[in-house]
Amino acid sequence: LSRSRKAPAILAIDQGTTSSRAMVFDLQGQVAALAQEEFNQIYPRPGWVEHDPEVIWATVLSTARKAIKAGEAKGYEITCLGVTNQRETTLVWDRQTGEPVHNAIVWQDRRTGEACAKLEADGAAAMVAGKTGLVLDPYFSATKIGWILDSVPGARKKAEAGKLAFGTVESFLIWRLTKGKRHITDATNASRTSLYDLEAQGWDSELLRLFNIPRAILPEVVDCAGDLGVADKSVLGKAIPITGSAGDQQAAAIGQACLSPGEMKSTYGTGAFMILNTGGTRVTSQNRLLATTAWRLEGKSAFALEGSVLSAGATIQWLRDGLGLISKASEVEALAASADPDAPVYLVPAFTGLGAPHWKPEARGLITGLTRGAGRAEIARAALESTAFQTHDLLTAMRADGAQTLTLKVDGGMVANAAFLQRLADICDLEVVRPVNTETTAWGAAFLAGLGAGHFASITEAASLWKADQRFAPAADTGWRTRHLAGWADALRRTTM
Ligand code: G3P
Repeated sequence: LSRSRKAPAILAIDQGTTSSRAMVFDLQGQVAALAQEEFNQIYPRPGWVEHDPEVIWATVLSTARKAIKAGEAKGYEITCLGVTNQRETTLVWDRQTGEPVHNAIVWQDRRTGEACAKLEADGAAAMVAGKTGLVLDPYFSATKIGWILDSVPGARKKAEAGKLAFGTVESFLIWRLTKGKRHITDATNASRTSLYDLEAQGWDSELLRLFNIPRAILPEVVDCAGDLGVADKSVLGKAIPITGSAGDQQAAAIGQACLSPGEMKSTYGTGAFMILNTGGTRVTSQNRLLATTAWRLEGKSAFALEGSVLSAGATIQWLRDGLGLISKASEVEALAASADPDAPVYLVPAFTGLGAPHWKPEARGLITGLTRGAGRAEIARAALESTAFQTHDLLTAMRADGAQTLTLKVDGGMVANAAFLQRLADICDLEVVRPVNTETTAWGAAFLAGLGAGHFASITEAASLWKADQRFAPAADTGWRTRHLAGWADALRRTTM
């Protein structure tokens, strides 16, 4: 009897680049519980970024257990769970022992830049873009898998013999949650590997040959909602059906209710990712944006155009951890506000190269316009503005590809900063809207899980659960905007020269 009185709730596991989070949502999308743990980034060499897979797993476990406990203490019954994740990050593990053969190679890692340049020189780019919607760049998983197989002694042989498994983070987590019963990846994550044919909806032999990846290590590609296995009782303390999975940017697009063609969102996490829904049609960008799977439900894919910026929140983290300019990320708002508004200081955060629309893995960051009057505040402002300028550049590419949107929905950690959002609206000359629920990534994963578990009847229900909080109208005069865009363009030119 007591069971039936409990309100149903959904657990979302959000494994991101700098932290693991777990949240419990009620069926209206309200947050009932949240746990978060930051973890260490490993930089073995300049341009290389790794995560310890056991740390990923440990932080997922402890945050999930905490959130479940807190949710249950509030009287909820967790009926299902959804997984969302930093995409592209590559893991290879031993099917027998369950142990990863190498650290996870993170999406930001540039070590396969040369391998990509070689494929480009061999003329492979058009075939890869045609099938996968992606450019040849170390960002995506295929060359990272190749690197692991070629660098870990014996790995390629074992992989060919079917003894190793590859997965992006959600795949690894689902494998461990189900105690090795399910080796799967959802279609949104598959669409970021460079091995998946977007329209044929499957792994592609020609791509596998090109990147020299044995088919035996690949997971099965599945829908984003449905029966994705059961998290074992011994793992989370109770058996919980896994009924949703999507890459974090696609989950955020669902959480932002970008459900119809033309709707667009931008998420400001470690990087910044703009997603434009293109419906059932896969659009090919003429402006170096990516085509990607937005979701796959009942075997049918919806598509999106994506602009990926590699450093957004990471730039603010660098102010904190690299420069020591601030001690908490939230201090950046006040510091930037105290900057001389006329100081022409620009920062290009190409710490790990530049993503869309430039795709320059070898580019490195710079600051221009320093004078004796420039100090901490001017650098902080330039760091914040770099995210707005990069968003502007993505928007320009989206528009050149036909996007007609008049509003940009925003979410992610940086949108707590109202001054940043006003600057974003000013620089982009576009209305920026922040929703009431800014936990869109986790909510998107929870919504998919709810869909898979039958709590929601169709994806369109996500729209009725989305509400605008604050709107930021562009307010800058044209002269100011032109001057700033020219300063940014000049800095960018120097970076990529
Ligand atoms: O493509 C990388 C992206 O999924 C990472 O997202 O939120 O960890 O910056 P985030």
